[in-house]
Amino acid sequence: MLLVGAGALSLLAGGGAALAWWSRSRRGAPIAEPGRPTVRPPGVPLSAFGGRSTAEEVTDGLDLTGRTIVVTGATSGLGLETMRALALRGAHVIGTGRSLESARAACGSVRGKTTPLPLELTDFDSIVELSRSLRATGSPLDALICNAGVMGLRSLEKVRGLERQFVTNHLGHYLLTRRVLDLILAAPQGRVVTVSSYVMNWSSPAGIEWDNLSGERDYHPNRAYGQSKLANALFSLELARRLRGTAATSNSLEPGYVDTGLFKHYPVSLKGFRGLLAEKAPVTQGAATSCYVATAPILAGHSGYHFAMCNPVVPIARACSETEARRLWDVSEALVTSHLSA
Ligand SMILES: NC(=O)c1ccc[n+]([C@@H]2O[C@H](COP(=O)([O-])OP(=O)(O)OC[C@H]3O[C@@H](n4cnc5c(N)ncnc54)[C@H](OP(=O)(O)O)[C@@H]3O)[C@@H](O)[C@H]2O)c1
Repeated sequence: MLLVGAGALSLLAGGGAALAWWSRSRRGAPIAEPGRPTVRPPGVPLSAFGGRSTAEEVTDGLDLTGRTIVVTGATSGLGLETMRALALRGAHVIGTGRSLESARAACGSVRGKTTPLPLELTDFDSIVELSRSLRATGSPLDALICNAGVMGLRSLEKVRGLERQFVTNHLGHYLLTRRVLDLILAAPQGRVVTVSSYVMNWSSPAGIEWDNLSGERDYHPNRAYGQSKLANALFSLELARRLRGTAATSNSLEPGYVDTGLFKHYPVSLKGFRGLLAEKAPVTQGAATSCYVATAPILAGHSGYHFAMCNPVVPIARACSETEARRLWDVSEALVTSHLSA
């Protein structure tokens, strides 16, 4: 008999529909979201790939020799597989871990040219240090894949007075991107790829809770995670606007429901229950969209889009608000200002 505790049921609230969608969507096209049909944005090409394509398949035939790509959170799950596939195709992948040791272990586990570097996204000094190390390589950055993330912290944890998932998943990547944007602009066609999530719809229906970035009011792990993933999409959208007129692009994506360590903060009972609702994709498939958006030649010049299963999709309405995207940029800038040019 399956035992599901009250805490687990609470965590599941709002997530059931999304999990069911993940499961359905993995069974084949078309990509459909609960309650509304798939909407394709105009002006960006479709690919031949889908929910079952793998990172190796979407990069098959690409020679990435000479490209430098940063993957944050490369020590496990999607980041490790993304690094593996891109290094396999010849890219020099800079894989970050929260410690140099964990980054070294991850880089040492894949074939190809990799460089381990430490990055703790809740420590702004660590972000500054990483940006200095990247600059010291003397190479432009062909892609920055903002992948690292944490999900579902059971109780409120704060960093610099802000809710930890917001800082880790969004703000840290915001600061990192700002600090290395010139290196991305220096590449022939630099790309910023931000890993968001379909469950950005767990955020408040009103969008970013501007008056509650500390998370103190009515903290809920799912809502906080959803907000951080909504922030990922809005950040990517505003960055794309700011990159207009340059060769660089910014796009966000959702990798699907993938078998990684991301769910470690959820109770065991929920892990079992979730398994009944949705089939998890292996990381080989989960990393496909990141690799596709970071490298597909046909996406050159296409910016400001959101992808799922290697194809562009229109995300939920609150992830499409240019006003909210600009506001997030400004608020984020104010929050990291001490480390922007330090
Ligand atoms: N798996 C899914 O179904 C799914 C669905 C939608 C979106 N995503 C997104 O995919 C991304 C990758 O997640 P995953 O599923 O591959 O999970 P994962 O296996 O747990 O990997 C997360 C990575 O982020 C790193 N990380 C966590 N906190 C960090 C911090 N404070 N500073 C620097 N790095 C940190 C982790 O390092 P440590 O191992 O040292 O903690 C790890 O390398 C996340 O952004 C997640 O939100 C995943």
